[in-house]
Amino acid sequence: MNPELAPQTDREPQTDRESAPNRSAVDLYSAPHKGIRWVLCDILLRLGNVSPEPSRERSAVLDDLDGVLYLLERHIEHEERHVHPLLARASEQVGTQLDTDHRSHEADIAALRDLARCVEDDSEHAGQQLEALYLHFSTFVAHNFEHMHTEETIAGPLLQRSFNDDQLLEAQAAILGSIGPDEMRSFMRVMLPAGRPEWREETLKHFEQLSPESSRELRSFLQPSHGK
Ligand SMILES: [Fe+2]
Repeated sequence: MNPELAPQTDREPQTDRESAPNRSAVDLYSAPHKGIRWVLCDILLRLGNVSPEPSRERSAVLDDLDGVLYLLERHIEHEERHVHPLLARASEQVGTQLDTDHRSHEADIAALRDLARCVEDDSEHAGQQLEALYLHFSTFVAHNFEHMHTEETIAGPLLQRSFNDDQLLEAQAAILGSIGPDEMRSFMRVMLPAGRPEWREETLKHFEQLSPESSRELRSFLQPSHGK
């Protein structure tokens, strides 16, 4: 394996911030990825146990599938617009690998949308169509999990070694600035329940300062009955 694509754990220990003063602590990946893992698992389980017969549950999981595919498209767009230019400067090979993964995810997203449409439109074969959707989605989840692992163990540390806090915070601010209120609500709906309590509180406090009303809505995403 090319050393640039080897997981961080397979390498010599990295130098710390003292010997690498420009090393940044800004983590661009962890919080959105946790939310994506959380919602992908939820939908995979529900696609596996819902009846193929038309029902409220079937409509809900197909709606949520459509929602997560939209979020993933946006996530790819944010990474490519604001993070990949930095990655390409740090390592062409890592940047190219992640671009290739994203093209494959986009093809999967289109195929999953077609399969979901077949479940709804082909009532005679809804059982087979739903099984095909479930199987395709399970491999999509696996590919996404592997891809996010590469981003968090290889691309993230590479960015932190190559850029300082200001440069990575600028990329983070550009991503946040490009997200409108509806999209932010959709991301927070999956990120909040997926995060650790300390991170949730910190995030909610941040939103409280911006808008107490929106913060109340975000808190409702943490209720056990939410979305049921
Ligand atoms: Fe990615």
